Amino acid sequence: MMAALAATELPVIEAEIASLGPWFHNLHLPGGIQTAPAHPLGDFPAFKWQEIAPHVPHDLDGWKVLDIGCNAGFYTFELARRGADVTAIDVDPHYLAQARWAAGRLGLQHRVRFRQMQIYDLVREPGEYDLVWFMGVLYHLRHPLLALDIVRRRTRRLMVMQTMTMPGDQVAMVPEDLGLDERARMQDPGWPVMAFIEKRLRRDPTNWWAPNHACVEAMLRSSGFGVLGRIAHETYLCEPRAGDADELGMVDEELRAATGTGEEEHP
Ligand SMILES: C[S@@+](CC[C@H](N)C(=O)[O-])C[C@H]1O[C@@H](n2cnc3c(N)ncnc32)[C@H](O)[C@@H]1O
Repeated sequence: MMAALAATELPVIEAEIASLGPWFHNLHLPGGIQTAPAHPLGDFPAFKWQEIAPHVPHDLDGWKVLDIGCNAGFYTFELARRGADVTAIDVDPHYLAQARWAAGRLGLQHRVRFRQMQIYDLVREPGEYDLVWFMGVLYHLRHPLLALDIVRRRTRRLMVMQTMTMPGDQVAMVPEDLGLDERARMQDPGWPVMAFIEKRLRRDPTNWWAPNHACVEAMLRSSGFGVLGRIAHETYLCEPRAGDADELGMVDEELRAATGTGEEEHP
């Protein structure tokens, strides 16, 4: 339990919140203080967590968790409160400064560590995590399948992924092999497709892709994840699955070449 705030502390904390802003996560801090109480999406991401939380093991004691694109650490802190040891990464030092400050305010600094890095840097990080938290990042990546292939190699037990999607829940039956002259079928409703956003979406130049639901599931399967369920809007609970050996071998080779992590030097 954290001690109640002294009256003189409140303005100091509010000034710190203002100086660390703008905030994307509305964190609830001791003393009823919030970091973004007027968030345009509402109490974000607390309302999303309410939906997802029942599907995540309640006791994460002894679990190693990786939060990719942690932002100000809302999910990192919730998972740490369940007992997990959380490593949280983000590319943006602005958000990491918020997360580090908030960890101190919440008294969770001994359970969490924040690192500034790209998701692709995980290819050079040894080890696996019992739970990988991968929310709100995939569509910001120019190379989403590369990222999923890397995330798969860091996942031991569970992975929770959320991505912005294209509208539409249909899933078409995709044949094992499609003839060259059958390509019109790719325009059928429910065929796995991903829209490329060359310009901007919601004024954000880092929104690159919007897959449909069928495509999200297909990409997850193709990267070696089994989808256990859609636990909230655009949110998937997954577990690692062994795929076809040849297919995985092919992916390994491409992954090595794309990331420069090959063991052999080619002349
Ligand atoms: C839309 S926010 C999602 C934040 C949080 N995961 C959530 O679901 O509320 C995307 C976050 O991913 C981070 N990010 C974007 N590209 C990244 C990359 N290539 N590697 C690591 N983090 C990235 C951003 O800085 C930002 O904090």
